[in-house]
Amino acid sequence: MSDTHKDILCHSENGVMTITLNRLEKKNSLTSAMYAALAAALEQAQADATVRVVVFQGHETIFSAGNDIGDFLNAPPATQDSPVFAFMRGLSSFPKPVVAAVCGPAVGIGTTLLLHCDLVYAGDNAAFSMPFVNLGLCPEFGSSLLVPRLMGYPRAAEALLLGEPFMAEAAMEVGLVNRIVPPTEANALAQQQARKLALKPLSALIETKRLMKKGQAAMVTERIAEEGASFGRMLREPAAKEAFGAFMEKRKPDFSRL
Ligand code: COA
Repeated sequence: MSDTHKDILCHSENGVMTITLNRLEKKNSLTSAMYAALAAALEQAQADATVRVVVFQGHETIFSAGNDIGDFLNAPPATQDSPVFAFMRGLSSFPKPVVAAVCGPAVGIGTTLLLHCDLVYAGDNAAFSMPFVNLGLCPEFGSSLLVPRLMGYPRAAEALLLGEPFMAEAAMEVGLVNRIVPPTEANALAQQQARKLALKPLSALIETKRLMKKGQAAMVTERIAEEGASFGRMLREPAAKEAFGAFMEKRKPDFSRL
């Protein structure tokens, strides 16, 4: 099965559905239409018994620059039924294994979504960042819960309060990344691991994943809703408007009065 949404490519083979972010001219930043395509792909992957594993990948130079900032400015997600919520809820509760290959920058939701994947393989050029505060926003989709749990509070504070990027080595040290390879090899390694998973009994994979996630599943769902309410409000407030305007005008934001 192959699908050709322009910016999201989807291809299934040998039990593996590979979803490729493909909007390179805008650094794979994600629009509402792309979230809708991602949500639809996951729905299909869940329903289709021939799909046993999902792989997310970008390009060897960029995973994703995060949410499209023009979209944030002009068409912010209005409710928690919007495409980004459909996609992220689908991913955070996806029952089958999900593998990601990440090279280059993974900004904002580009890093957040990895918290909901099972195996993450990184190019040595991978740079993870969650600069929500720098945009006048707060963490999203469970990251305020999952990041401190993963890396401990002090490092989480560095990542989420300072919003500074951290590289592949640091990501592997805290357990966000399983293995680091040259960028040209990351997608192939993710495929190789996905094919290994696809040969295993699916019912055992699903039950094992469910049990591993059980301890925090309800908390994640609750946190996603709480973060979503705050994020939605903050998108419309002056700090975010200033940050997005500055990005579009290619200038530094001025938060001195905010
Ligand atoms: N939304 C919309 N457009 C984006 C974008 C985003 N999140 N990220 C990059 N782009 C666009 C740029 O505006 C530029 O468009 P143009 O060619 O029409 O001017 C194009 O993609 C290339 O981006 P550029 O910044 O020149 O690439 P770079 O290689 O120098 O830097 C990044 C790459 C990812 C480091 C940088 O683009 C970036 O920091 N983007 C914003 C990340 C962000 O804050 N995301 C929101 C997180 S919540």
